[in-house]
Amino acid sequence: MAAHKSELIAQDIEAYLHQHQHKSLLRFLTCGSVDDGKSTLIGRLLYDSKMIFEDQLAALEADSRKVGTQGGDIDFALLVDGLAAEREQGITIDVAYRFFSTDRRKFIVADTPGHEQYTRNMVTGASTADAAIILIDARKGVLTQTRRHSYLVSLLGIRHVVLAVNKMDLADWSQEVFEAIVGEYRDFAGQIGITDFTAIPMSALKGDNITDRSERSPWYDGPPLMRWLEEAPVEDDLQGKPFRMPVQWVNRPDLDFRGFSGQVASGVVRPGDKVKALPSGRESTVARIVTFTGDLPQAVAGQSVTITLEDEIDVSRGDVLAAAGSPPEVADQFEATIVWFDDEALLPGRPYLLKLGTRTVQAQVAEPKHKVNVNTLEKLAATRLELNEIGVCNLSLAAPIAFDPYAENKDLGGFILIDRITNRTVGAGMLHFALRRSHNIHWQATDVGKASRAAQKGQTPKVLWFTGLSGAGKSTIANLVEKRLHADGRHTYLLDGDNVRHGLNRDLGFTEEDRVENIRRVGEVARLMADAGLIVLTAFISPFRAERRMVREMLPEGEFVEVFIDTPLAEAEKRDVKGLYKKARKGELTNFTGIDSPYEAPQTPEITIDTTTITAEDAAEAIVAWLDRA
Ligand code: ADX
Repeated sequence: MAAHKSELIAQDIEAYLHQHQHKSLLRFLTCGSVDDGKSTLIGRLLYDSKMIFEDQLAALEADSRKVGTQGGDIDFALLVDGLAAEREQGITIDVAYRFFSTDRRKFIVADTPGHEQYTRNMVTGASTADAAIILIDARKGVLTQTRRHSYLVSLLGIRHVVLAVNKMDLADWSQEVFEAIVGEYRDFAGQIGITDFTAIPMSALKGDNITDRSERSPWYDGPPLMRWLEEAPVEDDLQGKPFRMPVQWVNRPDLDFRGFSGQVASGVVRPGDKVKALPSGRESTVARIVTFTGDLPQAVAGQSVTITLEDEIDVSRGDVLAAAGSPPEVADQFEATIVWFDDEALLPGRPYLLKLGTRTVQAQVAEPKHKVNVNTLEKLAATRLELNEIGVCNLSLAAPIAFDPYAENKDLGGFILIDRITNRTVGAGMLHFALRRSHNIHWQATDVGKASRAAQKGQTPKVLWFTGLSGAGKSTIANLVEKRLHADGRHTYLLDGDNVRHGLNRDLGFTEEDRVENIRRVGEVARLMADAGLIVLTAFISPFRAERRMVREMLPEGEFVEVFIDTPLAEAEKRDVKGLYKKARKGELTNFTGIDSPYEAPQTPEITIDTTTITAEDAAEAIVAWLDRA
């Protein structure tokens, strides 16, 4: 059994390394459902390319005899699954990158586990892939998973696709079976823009059509998989595109040196080139390209460098340096395709963090336009995106960013969305284009400002944000607080949930989406009222941390005062002033907070009122006293 031993290694290690270093690199991705034979295929590729070392090989043969799922044959899946188990013990990376090489090329294969989280894994694995292998079990044909994977592959802009029709040995190497699968796939692929793919009948287990063309498929005249992989064109036109470098950090060791470090995303840059910093739009000229090993005459896509400029222009981390003659666009509203990976749905209006290049900004999905049924490619109306759903949405950012459409530049057009509370990556997206309105609406400055309005009233604006279960006592206590403040000559306004839902928010119900929108609007109104110089009191269940935090961040530091009216569910239900808990328990009222809709209690509220130990009057007094101290 031949393990990875090259004659060259023994004779001339230098020559071996040189040959190895100068081979081109293909990054590809394998997509398949559970049991399509993905692990077996990857194991087979590693094995046939002789990249399995002797000790692993011995263990593999022993394991295969022990487990014995494949008779006397080696079970290649054990190789990959064994590595997977190793991985689980260490840090949990969801995508395993495996390396192998042949005499002609080096390969990095992203092995993306299936299961529920497959979209997340696939998008992660695919983000740098040049090619994709879509695995099909010849006995099962084109499945929903096949369509979904292919749709993602197409969305992510992978142009080189192999349709690996595997387990042909179990389909009697029937040409008809193969042709039927390929025909069905071709119809679908055409609709999603995969116009060109190579279909290969194979048995990863037996090794047919992997390295050599198999005698069992005399009717197949295409390349075996390994040859296809060796010959697939590697996308390398990044250098031909305009220069872009997202700034990773500003390197300022002393007052004499100020450089901008990052990885060149596309194009070429040389000293003397005119560059533009975005989003500011300031221009300068490249002075030097600095690296650890000395200055460079030029830097190309993929290289990490530090650039110094001739002028002192303001550039910060997250900005983009670009060719002055063809800069990226700058905007704060976009249309994009979003792929959602989180168990918790994407809700329009909820703030997320959007990371594009090295820039991170707060973002909201303003409006989902539709989601896509990946089987039928139908566009469906949507108010949210659930786990693994794909949709087209308008996004709105808290600040403008520099970008290119994803179709032109993956680095400057691809982004991820991060949950602000859990810090999880919850989605990924591909920018299509900026919305016109992002350029056309400007902030109108007014002469009378917040400070002068507040001064006239002789007070400091505040937003007292009451949160708690229905029936907790928010409205009652807020009302008492307002009475006291009013009597004291303060200028106030109380926004109450039930009241606002009669007017401004009469179109909203109690789904998660509607509650998010309810609080978004109330937050905006509270901000306007604080801008008018008022002390604002709000009494809304406001069950979600994300939106309460969003309102907090809309206001200057210290202005938002979270008042948690802490009444346990059992107590609120016992009181049941409006009889709503009873209805909810009987199932006559759905999405009721505390019953079948969650309440996320504040973790660090400014004020907590335990209504089981203190009267509403005393609570009001305590809150006013807190305000007087503040
Ligand atoms: S919030 O969740 O969006 O903040 P909001 O405070 O505006 O809710 O409205 C809550 C009030 O609406 C409750 O006090 C109750 O009187 C009434 N209500 C009607 N249906 C529901 C429901 N399904 N869940 C909670 N409150 C409801």
